[in-house]
Amino acid sequence: MLDKVKELIGEVNAFKSSSNEEVEAFRIKYLGSKGLLKELFAEFKNVDPEFRKDFGQALNNLKKSAEEKVVTLQVSLENSFEEKNFYGDLTRPSEPIELGSRHPISIVKNKIIDIFNRIGFTVSEGPEIEDDWHNFTALNLPEYHPARDMQDTFFIEKDPDILLRTHTSSVQVRYMEEHAPPIRTISPGRVFRNEDISSRSHCIFHQVEGLYIDTDVSFADLKQTLLYFTKELFGKSKIRLRPSFFPFTEPSAEVDIYWGLETETDYKITKGTGWLEIMGCGMVDPNVLKNANIDPTKYSGYAFGMGIERIAMLLYQIPDIRMFYENDKRFLEQFKSVI
Ligand code: DAH
Repeated sequence: MLDKVKELIGEVNAFKSSSNEEVEAFRIKYLGSKGLLKELFAEFKNVDPEFRKDFGQALNNLKKSAEEKVVTLQVSLENSFEEKNFYGDLTRPSEPIELGSRHPISIVKNKIIDIFNRIGFTVSEGPEIEDDWHNFTALNLPEYHPARDMQDTFFIEKDPDILLRTHTSSVQVRYMEEHAPPIRTISPGRVFRNEDISSRSHCIFHQVEGLYIDTDVSFADLKQTLLYFTKELFGKSKIRLRPSFFPFTEPSAEVDIYWGLETETDYKITKGTGWLEIMGCGMVDPNVLKNANIDPTKYSGYAFGMGIERIAMLLYQIPDIRMFYENDKRFLEQFKSVI
């Protein structure tokens, strides 16, 4: 009897297989509910008491060896490439695919486009490298006009002047040169200014320009459009227009939205006033219309311009404009859930 068990231990230890079915058959043969071990343990009572101790020990060894063998073979089969075949285990959940995120500037730009699209504005673009006419002169900023100093310019060539556009208002002129009224368009784009880089300003940033030209366009139309826009984008329904100056609009205004004074941050960003400036606007100066071959006695219009970074900073509470250009994954990943 004892010899039989020892023989079986040898057999168990020598067993090798690379198939799941064979391992399972082996397990049933030794450890199954009608298996050899069950039979042998049943024999125990017939063994001479003198040999019971050795027999018991041998049986336990056999059981342990069989169990270990099954586990070892199962684990090695699971890990073996051949068994898994080329495609691997098709029942496993798939690997997560990491999604990228849109840049916050694109997110805000798309939101603005979407809001103005809904009230009939098209999207237009112009070149980043501009001539003097479209960036300055046609916009009522003749040579030596002091207002040119409002925007420090990167010049590429002098006489004739070729430069990096300092604002997207240049697209207004190009658009009016090519289209007859009625005109309803917004022009998003990158602009360049020779300014020191700080947490508040950068030498490269983005603007959206708006232009509406038709018969009988009034300042009230402008105000209503801007109110609609601020409601849609910020969910704020109080704005005010402060008289200001831009050479290309007359009258001109700066638009403030009432942000509120509910939190400490509100106090900080509004300097305790509750109001925030978000854009410039006005009625297109008749000279600008004339320069773009539109008859100012027949048509009037309004224009507005805003910085995308500034709006994104307000919407997402971003404290430093430089974060937009650093490509820091930790910053960009925070916009994953926004489209
Ligand atoms: N171009 C101006 C700037 O860059 C922004 C602006 C103000 C655009 C008033 C406009 C406007 O169209 O009417 O600061």
